[in-house]
Amino acid sequence: MSQIIDWVDERLDLSGIRHFIAEKGVPIHTQKIWYYLGGVTLFLFMVQVASGILLLLYYRPSASEAYESVQFIVTQVEFGWLIRNIHSWSANLLILAAFAHLFSVFFLKSYRQPRELTWISGALLLFLMLGFGFSGYLLPWNELAFFATKVGTGIAGAVPFVGRGMLRFLRGGDDVTGATLSRFYALHVAILPAMTTVLVALHLLFVQRQGMSVPMKEARRLRAGGFQKQMPFFPDYILRDVLVWYVAIALLAALAAFYPWELGRKADPFAAVPAGIRPEWYFLAMFHTLKLLPSHILGFEGERLGVLAFGLAAALLVVVPFLDRRASREESSPWFTTVGLAALLYFVAFTIIGYLAS
Ligand code: HEM
Repeated sequence: MSQIIDWVDERLDLSGIRHFIAEKGVPIHTQKIWYYLGGVTLFLFMVQVASGILLLLYYRPSASEAYESVQFIVTQVEFGWLIRNIHSWSANLLILAAFAHLFSVFFLKSYRQPRELTWISGALLLFLMLGFGFSGYLLPWNELAFFATKVGTGIAGAVPFVGRGMLRFLRGGDDVTGATLSRFYALHVAILPAMTTVLVALHLLFVQRQGMSVPMKEARRLRAGGFQKQMPFFPDYILRDVLVWYVAIALLAALAAFYPWELGRKADPFAAVPAGIRPEWYFLAMFHTLKLLPSHILGFEGERLGVLAFGLAAALLVVVPFLDRRASREESSPWFTTVGLAALLYFVAFTIIGYLAS
């Protein structure tokens, strides 16, 4: 082994990397549990890439074959059911982990100077993850996904001014057809993965450049002359990260084995809209809010105003570090914490209400 390492070292000069790994430290403090959420999100993303590539070996992206190919994967291909269930469950856990990571870095105020770019790249990654969820939902070409995509792309159509163009761009025409499936497939397996790879690399580079932040309480303690305890990144921190990944694998395996993802009936564009059509849980809060809006508000179409408000909220999320301009890590910003708590409460409550109502 050492001969192989020496051989590679002689050609690539790995001493810099070795030195970097040996020197890198991570601050130790009481809130460190929150600092593992980014790592779990990254791990689940890698699970998605690996299981997605395996599914690609058998999946066929056409309206006439997609449903049958997924049926073949879960009934005929060895361990195909496991791979599909892992891909579906991991997608949901990934989005849950990304939301938990977002709220934890928000409440810890880790977005503050000099971590603005880390936050912005993270927020864009969350949008990409939602894009993965939305485009992947249609791929089995089953009834539920078909009608949910019709509703979802319809919502995109309500965006003021550009809505109609967006709807036609997403659907590949006026209606959800095989052309929509081809587009969603291209998005899901090529465009979004390429964009995500670049953004994840940037996100990790920014985290690496800035080092891990310390929570406000700890920053105050340090200012008062406290000593910053550190643990080596390798192997101490990485081993703790891997332990959390083990828990994620155990959870994934249990969910995949005991709660298999249903395939339902094949999509039939001419069938009546079945009852209980709803999007994935992470779109439910928005879906339900739009449903509750009156048809007209102050003379404007209610749904359009709602979509505009969600777009504005997404834009505000991206620029959070420029709204909370406190430079110091120690200063609290209770107003931002309150808005964050209200957003979290709204999201959880409307997701549950939306689920119960659909
Ligand atoms: C695919 C999605 C994502 C991946 C793979 C990812 C990965 C990571 C990793 C591995 C870290 C370092 C460990 C940690 O602090 O937890 C991190 C830190 C960070 N992430 Fe993410 N992240 C993602 C999404 C997000 C989102 C949605 C946001 C917020 C909008 C965000 C904002 C941040 C910030 C501000 C830090 C620095 C934390 C600190 O220094 O204390 N990330 N991310």
